[in-house]
Amino acid sequence: MSARHLYVHLPFCSHRCGYCDFVTAVGKIDEHGGYAEALLAELALESGKLGEVETVFIGGGTPTYFEPGALRRVLALLPNAREVTVEANPETVTSEVAALLREAGVNRVSLGAQTFEPRLLEVLERVAGPDDVRAAFYRLRDAGFDNISLDLIYGIPGQSAADLERDLASALALDPEHLSAYELEAKPGTRFTHAHGAELKRQADQMESYFELVVERLTGAGYRWYETANFARVEGAGDEGDVPRDLRAHHNLGYWLARDYLGVGVGAVSTIEHRRWRNLPSLAGYLKALGNGEAPPREVEDLDQATRALERVMLGLRLDEPVPWVEAEAAIDPAGLDRLVRLGLVERTADGVTLSRRGRFIGDAVTADLLT
Ligand SMILES: C[S@@+](CC[C@H](N)C(=O)[O-])C[C@H]1O[C@@H](n2cnc3c(N)ncnc32)[C@H](O)[C@@H]1O
Ligand code: SF4
Repeated sequence: MSARHLYVHLPFCSHRCGYCDFVTAVGKIDEHGGYAEALLAELALESGKLGEVETVFIGGGTPTYFEPGALRRVLALLPNAREVTVEANPETVTSEVAALLREAGVNRVSLGAQTFEPRLLEVLERVAGPDDVRAAFYRLRDAGFDNISLDLIYGIPGQSAADLERDLASALALDPEHLSAYELEAKPGTRFTHAHGAELKRQADQMESYFELVVERLTGAGYRWYETANFARVEGAGDEGDVPRDLRAHHNLGYWLARDYLGVGVGAVSTIEHRRWRNLPSLAGYLKALGNGEAPPREVEDLDQATRALERVMLGLRLDEPVPWVEAEAAIDPAGLDRLVRLGLVERTADGVTLSRRGRFIGDAVTADLLT
C-alpha cells in the first residue's frame, strides 16, 4: 500500500455559508488544538499506507481560520511534497497567516472567491466582500506565493450572464495561475434551497450557457481547460529558457486519474487499492476515538477491480488528455463508442479515448452513454 496523495481536513469555519454541504464545524477555537493532535494521531496510525508523497491538500472547512499555533503544528508534521495546497477564505488571509503558510512550506493556495458581486456574496452568505478577495490575493502574492487558484461559483440565485462576465473579468484581472469554476449545487431539502427554490430552477435552465461562457472566456484568456471545471494558466518558457511550469492542480489530478489517496480528519475519504473508507462526520466521535488511540469511526466500502476501472474512465474523461486504451477498453461499450464518435462527441486517438470539445460540454451524459 503506498498512496502518494494526502488530503488533510480542517473542518472549522467562522460561520456556515447557506449553500455549503461540506463537513464543517462553526467556531470552537478552543477545540482546534485538540483536533490538531487527533489529526496527527490518525496520520501516525495510517502512515504505513503512504509511499513517497507527491501532493498534500489541506482543505476544509476553512484551514486559514484554524488557530495559528495548531495550524503551524499540523503543517510542521506533514510529509514533504512537491505540491502543498491550502484552501483559504479571503477574510482570514492576514499578512501573518500568509507568512505562516509560506514559512511552513505551503506552495499553493486555493482562495474561495465564489463571486465578486456584493449582492450575490450576500445570497451565498459569504463573509468576504470583493475587496477582501483582492486584498487576500495581494497578501498571498506579497508573501511569495506564485501559484494561486481562485474558486468561482456560477448559477447563483439572482446572477445574470452579465454578472458572470464581470466575475470572470474580475478574476482574470488578478492573473491567477489557476481557476476553478463550479456550477452551484444546491442540495434538496436544505434551508438554502427552500429560500431560493424558484430562482434555482431558473438558474438550472441557464447552466449550460453559463458553462459555455466560462470556458470561452477562460480559454480565450489563454487558460487550459484541462478538467471539466478547472483551468490552468499556460506559461511560456522564461527569459532564461526555464522549463514552463505545469500549473494544473496535481493533487486533484491524482483523484481524476483514480490514483490511491489517503485522507485524514473528520469526514475525510481515503481510497487505497480495493478499499474506500470515509471517516464519519461526527467531530466528538473523531476526537474520542483518537484520544483512545483508536482509528476513528468509519464507513468502509470494498471496491472490486471492475469498479475501480470504471471510475478511472469516468473521472479520466473529465480531463483533456485521452484515457489510454489499456485502461479504457474493458469499461467502454464499442457500439456506444462508434455512435458517439460519429456524433462528434467522442474522439478516438492513437493513445486512447477522449471527449471532443462539444462532448465535454455535455460531459456526464456522454460518459454514461460510452460506458458498458
Ligand atoms: C471545500 S470548499 C471550502 C473552501 C472555503 N472554505 C471557501 O468557502 O472558500 C471548496 C470550494 O468548493 C466550492 N463549493 C462549495 N460548496 C459548493 C456548492 N454547493 N456548489 C458548488 N461549489 C461549491 C467553492 O467554490 C469552494 O471554494
Ligand atoms: S466557509 Fe467554505 S467550508 Fe465553511 S461553510 Fe462556507 S463554503 Fe463551507
